[in-house]
Amino acid sequence: MMTRSIKKAGLMVAFMALATMNAGAQTYLNPNAPLEERVKDALSRMTTHEKIKLLHAQSKFTSAGVPRLGIRQLNMDDGPHGVREELEWNTWNPARWTNDYIVAFPSLTCLASTWNRGLSLAYGDAVSEEFAFRGKDIMLGPGVNIQRTPLNGRAFEYMGEDPYLAGEMVVPYIQAAQRNGVACCLKHFVLNDQETDRFAVNVNVSERAMHEIYLEPFRRVVEKAHVWTIMGSYNLWNGVHCCHNDALLNGILKKGWNWDGALVSDWGGTTNTWEAVHGGLDIEMGTYTDGKTKESNFGYDQYYLGNPFEQLIEEGKVPMSVLDEKASRVLRTIFRTAMNPNKVIGSQCSEAHYDVCRQVGEEGIVLLKNEKNILPLDASKYQKILVVGENATRSLTQGGGSSELKTLRDVSPLEAFQGLYGDKIDYAQGYYSGRTIYDQVDRIDPEKQAALKAEALQKAKSADLIIFVGGLNKNHGQDCENGDRESYNLSFGQNELIAELAKIQKNTIVVIFGGNPYAMPWLNQVKALTHCWYLGSEAGTALANVLSGKVCPSGKLPVTFAQKYEDYPYVKFGAEAYPGVNKQVYYKEDIFVGYRHFTTNNVKPLFPFGYGLSYTTFAYGKPTVTQENGNMVVSVQVTNTGKVAGKEIAQIYVNAPKTGLPRAARELKGFAKTRTLRPNESETLRITIPKEDLRYYDETAHDWALTKGTYTLHVGASVNDIRGHATITLD
Ligand code: GLC
Repeated sequence: MMTRSIKKAGLMVAFMALATMNAGAQTYLNPNAPLEERVKDALSRMTTHEKIKLLHAQSKFTSAGVPRLGIRQLNMDDGPHGVREELEWNTWNPARWTNDYIVAFPSLTCLASTWNRGLSLAYGDAVSEEFAFRGKDIMLGPGVNIQRTPLNGRAFEYMGEDPYLAGEMVVPYIQAAQRNGVACCLKHFVLNDQETDRFAVNVNVSERAMHEIYLEPFRRVVEKAHVWTIMGSYNLWNGVHCCHNDALLNGILKKGWNWDGALVSDWGGTTNTWEAVHGGLDIEMGTYTDGKTKESNFGYDQYYLGNPFEQLIEEGKVPMSVLDEKASRVLRTIFRTAMNPNKVIGSQCSEAHYDVCRQVGEEGIVLLKNEKNILPLDASKYQKILVVGENATRSLTQGGGSSELKTLRDVSPLEAFQGLYGDKIDYAQGYYSGRTIYDQVDRIDPEKQAALKAEALQKAKSADLIIFVGGLNKNHGQDCENGDRESYNLSFGQNELIAELAKIQKNTIVVIFGGNPYAMPWLNQVKALTHCWYLGSEAGTALANVLSGKVCPSGKLPVTFAQKYEDYPYVKFGAEAYPGVNKQVYYKEDIFVGYRHFTTNNVKPLFPFGYGLSYTTFAYGKPTVTQENGNMVVSVQVTNTGKVAGKEIAQIYVNAPKTGLPRAARELKGFAKTRTLRPNESETLRITIPKEDLRYYDETAHDWALTKGTYTLHVGASVNDIRGHATITLD
């Protein structure tokens, strides 16, 4: 009897011990345990070397987990518009998978042009489902660098010239993605506003412009979307690389904004161990490469946060607390994504994703000119419609650098027009742009160019409508990473070709693809102009739906189109203001970027910020403003006074009380888009403006401040088309 009871007691003790151990083992693996407990428990079980390995790449696009403990690695991939094709584990070469064809969504500047927060949510949900389905934990985007120059090679990946619009339009995208258990990696933090000398340029900018313009979209996203990772930028600020800039990453981001995520370097953006250790970097990626083409024979352990950092720890030169702080941020990211029980399976190339792609395209297209309502097209009026231009057939989902995509479906404008108008459609390429291998552009053969032009002009003689489809094309120097545009003009002889086509046939419609404004010497000779950014896999369908009137255009510009290049505010300051001299660039226009300059200094733009035509018209009622728990709420009724259904974007621009401090005449601080309004239908929009959004950055206090006095709230259909205003006094 005795033996049996002792045995039983012994078994009980053993079981209890096992359960305790298991219970201990369960915490970091327990999906229901609080996140911080999982982090702490995991950290307590890791060796120094295992903590170090979390902090740097183990392949081109992954960073290590802890295999011994069953802690997953982090799978990352580009880019903001869709999941990049799989590359080989250790090279930039495509892995040639046959199941990594995906949906290419429209460029983010196109999303910004929709001014539709609901569509941004749908976009983030759809694109993150594609990342999840491909087993990715971090999507390397979106980007919110500010478009201070129309020559920036990567502007197409960003959200325009205004920090409020950029922040507001990217918040829903990130909220949706992270609800799916996929981390966004907001980039490129910060001041990566040009591609020229991007690895080495040091940006000199006032503290006020830094906070009010360049940091602001990032701050809004950290505050409202709690983005889980952020990518440091290649360039320098105050002489220190942003991928490990203590003042920026520890001072402003982690302490100032109380951010708990992991700071990922841009690929090759890490330059030394000491700064990487003390400058706020958490995950070092792509070191010894240039982020796209160059290779190195260094091993991953030789990364700056690899063996060199481990040695500093072993020698006691850096306290373990510094390593633990970094490792905790990486573990937090792993438990939010790779080991998040709520991470979705996702899907790839679903019709739902193509629908979102098409809708963002349709609402992002901006109708800039529509003389005599030649649009929407009434095909019955025309016998022969000639489509001219390389972008009518060229896939614009490839190219551009790291945001390039391998698509399953790519509907071109020409295919869509042929689908709609059948054999009324004829085509002439008109010009060609040559082939690019990222950094080199082939010579353009003038004979071939002349022959293409002659063929187009010849065909134009027998057409009664011409649709020119051109613009930029994500070749090097044509909206592509690692290089800016060389000119504000369209290339490959397009300007001359458009002018000569319009001389032959006055019914000429121009469709331009591109991420930036450009000169339009032919504007007065053409009947209509739409700007399309990049529309992704459903480009042709979205474009044809708008030109045909199946969809009423509602997009509005997130950037200013100047009358001429010299009107952009930085140009008068010379090369120092862009692209910089001896790798130093000075943002001499300060806070007066884009429309802030054009409105304050009364420079008339060609097409203002927030401008976009519709096939219908809208009237605005008298705006009223009320104060509701610290916020101002502007109410304005919008009525469709035209003949077709459409959507309208109402914008609120604030003009602050005059003080000694220079301030922009207009600052966008609110906007809303109506639902589709039928003719004579109205909707009352309520636009909330938190009081803190009216602040300016006070450089003496090194903090935000609010001016007392009377603020004018201009309600407009664009920054220059004000339909009413209200005032509010802050005492
Ligand atoms: C590139 C880009 C960055 C991209 C990364 C990985 O150089 O700057 O946006 O996510 O490297 O491709």
